[in-house]
Amino acid sequence: MPLIHVLNGPNLNLLGQRQPEIYGRETLADIEALCRKAAAPHDIRFLQSNWEGQIVDWIHEARHEAAAIVINPAALTHTSVAVLDALMAFDGPVIEVHLSQVHKREPFRHHSYVSKRADGVIAGLGIEGYAAALRRIVQLLG
Ligand code: DQA
Repeated sequence: MPLIHVLNGPNLNLLGQRQPEIYGRETLADIEALCRKAAAPHDIRFLQSNWEGQIVDWIHEARHEAAAIVINPAALTHTSVAVLDALMAFDGPVIEVHLSQVHKREPFRHHSYVSKRADGVIAGLGIEGYAAALRRIVQLLG
């Protein structure tokens, strides 16, 4: 059964404590549990890093290990050509997820480098966005 990588960018380790009025009270562990359920029967590799290069390395690993990627690049969404370029070198489906509705927020959050590669983009559904992304990936993988 193909593996799905779920990658999380900077500061998402602080979910539950960080601006809960924007990001909710659920923790990253809650999101991981939800993703595991939504991905079944597929297995997931669920990862978070505050380091751009680590996210790039995990995307490179996904080229050999994963059939699909769900990614919340967090702040790297708006800044990282390196994450975009790494995703361009990945062949399977990619879905970009944001907990908050980034288009209702500050103008610098309206642009996403990652969206230039993503096959789907979900924003503003809270943690349910991850589950929706995984359900779509499961459908695409068949
Ligand atoms: C985020 C939105 C980004 O603008 C922000 O930098 C984040 C989280 C979201 O999930 O809503 O860290 O990706």
